[in-house]
Amino acid sequence: MLKRNNNAVTKEAVMAAMSTVIEPELHRDLVSLNMVRDLKIDGGDVTFTIMLTTPACPLKGKMEADSRAALAQVPGITNVTVKWDSNVPRHQHTSDVGKNFRTTIAVASGKGGVGKSTVSVNLAISLAKTGARVGLLDADILGPNIPMMMGVDTMPPPRDRKMVPAENYGVKFISTAFLMRPDQALVWRGPMLHSAIRQLLVDVAWGELDYLIVDLPPGTGDAQLSLAQTMPLTGTVIVTQPMAVAAGDALRAIKMFEQLNVPILGVVENMSGDFFGTGAGEKLAESNDVPYFGAIPLDAQIRIGGDAGEPVTVFAETSPSAQAFADIAALIAAKVSVLTLMDRGNFVPIEMIG
Ligand SMILES: Nc1ncnc2c1ncn2[C@@H]1O[C@H](COP(=O)(O)OP(=O)(O)OP(=O)(O)O)[C@@H](O)[C@H]1O
Ligand SMILES: [Mg+2]
Repeated sequence: MLKRNNNAVTKEAVMAAMSTVIEPELHRDLVSLNMVRDLKIDGGDVTFTIMLTTPACPLKGKMEADSRAALAQVPGITNVTVKWDSNVPRHQHTSDVGKNFRTTIAVASGKGGVGKSTVSVNLAISLAKTGARVGLLDADILGPNIPMMMGVDTMPPPRDRKMVPAENYGVKFISTAFLMRPDQALVWRGPMLHSAIRQLLVDVAWGELDYLIVDLPPGTGDAQLSLAQTMPLTGTVIVTQPMAVAAGDALRAIKMFEQLNVPILGVVENMSGDFFGTGAGEKLAESNDVPYFGAIPLDAQIRIGGDAGEPVTVFAETSPSAQAFADIAALIAAKVSVLTLMDRGNFVPIEMIG
């Protein structure tokens, strides 16, 4: 007869304990979200994988601590190993354009020079560093800056009649700068702008992406309209400077995207600090009832990184500025996950379940 061990740890006991652990953004338990995978029990040793909705998840530490606390209540467990994996849920839409993109994030502002391109580039790099598949589309057709900031000035030759995106720092990117000479000015009218943006979405071999970041030109004009009409955007990040006057321009951008039915993901304050002050970003977010993702300091390293084609998140990875970008990227990714998993307030478990 086999000897029974009354203290044997069972799968049921582990899952029951894990079903008391709440995913802090989605407010549901890890088991009903199907986030606990590959459970292995070997005597008192318990190993499992938590399947996240983004590799950039800002709350891994909390989830791990909560899991360990819950499992500490289960008799017989002597050791817990938590592993991580992720599957970014797909933003559901019916458009043919953007099928390869799990999510799309536009970066916008009411006016020029506030740091949209800088935020786009460092957001893309920060997400790529976590292991996400990231693309960056330079939708500033007339004033493209992305290739310079990303340190690459040519794109690879086309393949199968599609443009092949350039790639650096783990990010794929495309820009009309690749198609023009530096001394050439582009004078394009509305319909041409529209078709250019469409081409950069459709005629480029992007492959499968978790996040497509779109760097918009300043203002509330044709490019914003074209983008929103060509493909359903998961949401927009609004960049503002810290002064009250700047927030007025950003408010116009928020109102425009609301009119276009594009969700506002939240607000980033850029160039924050002694010189321009602080606070307008947070106020703007509060008064529009959207998240405030945080502030990026006014920092010469950020400008130098942009000018040199080696962004601060690459050449000064441990600097406070790079850390600020990484923290903000994680908050944006988490917000995108929540948005893609919610449909008008109803929870729709999509393919993270698969
Ligand atoms: N936090 C920062 N600290 C210091 N310099 C910054 C910061 N953010 C952006 N810059 C610099 O400010 C200038 C404008 O930034 P950027 O080109 O990103 O703005 P933009 O909003 O994309 O402008 P445009 O509206 O012309 O597209 C750049 O030289 C950039 O390096
Ligand atoms: Mg720009």
